[in-house]
Amino acid sequence: MDKLSDAASGFDKQRLFDFLDTFRRSKGNLTVLTGAGISAESGIPTFRGPEGYWTVGSQVYRPQEMATLDMFRRDPRAVWQFYLWRLGVCRQAQPNQGHKALVAMEKQLQARFTLITQNVDNLHLRAGQSLNRTYQIHGNLGYVRCSAACCRSVTEIPPEVVPKEKNENISDTEWQRLHCSRCGALLRPHVLWFDESYDESFYRLDSSLAAARSTALLIVVGTSGATNLPTQVVAQVYRQGGFIIDINPNDNPYGQLAQGYERGLAIREQSGKALDAIARHIEAVSLVSR
Ligand code: APR
Repeated sequence: MDKLSDAASGFDKQRLFDFLDTFRRSKGNLTVLTGAGISAESGIPTFRGPEGYWTVGSQVYRPQEMATLDMFRRDPRAVWQFYLWRLGVCRQAQPNQGHKALVAMEKQLQARFTLITQNVDNLHLRAGQSLNRTYQIHGNLGYVRCSAACCRSVTEIPPEVVPKEKNENISDTEWQRLHCSRCGALLRPHVLWFDESYDESFYRLDSSLAAARSTALLIVVGTSGATNLPTQVVAQVYRQGGFIIDINPNDNPYGQLAQGYERGLAIREQSGKALDAIARHIEAVSLVSR
């Protein structure tokens, strides 16, 4: 194996393959935790990077204000315009090498595999990930639910409601379709807002923590570590002595933790390339051990 130093942009491939071989023999579970970074190579802006929604958006949308229940109550049309613009960005994007590598890992590992994603762009499911093993802990942009919570059902955005350009108006017909057929209240995007909390029924809180407790190897991909449930998942795996691999071209709290941990590895790479190498190795060793 060619040995790339940790410090350079690459990573110590031998150390990675040693981790993966130990994981394979352990018969333990693999959990992957993804953030906006895995979709960056699909052309979807991240949130806090130089071209991120929250950065670029700050000229048009004050992010922490837009992505809140409070703003939805004060100006629902503005919030819907924001989400229908992001929906267009996400629907135009295609799953990339990193998404496809995770699908290959799930096919190899089946019940030993769990994906916890903060992303609402639907690219993991479009790539072929199974819904029951994909915990969408911040929801999904393509889905809605009743804002009055007259029922708990989550349904696809009505087909008559189409993605928008930034600040493009929502037609009266579309606006009528964005109302609950049961109680008449406005429908809301099925996403977790900054002034709301995780739960199990909408955001798989308990399932994610249970997955963490049975994780032998955690792969963290493309997240800046700014949110609560992902931090609890990483802390749980660390406490129980699981292996932690962080994939991110930039420094971040999870990469720092991995670097200072004897069972950690920080891979300073784009996620597509790194995940492809991991998926290929898992497949190679699984084939060998059959
Ligand atoms: N491969 C891997 N990681 C990448 C890539 C790439 N090609 N490009 C960027 N990244 C990394 C950045 O270095 C950054 O650390 O992705 C991370 C994206 O961080 P954020 O923009 O903060 O996105 P995320 O961590 O997913 O945000 C979490 O916060 O704003 C809320 O609800 C929103 O789900 C979001 C949550």
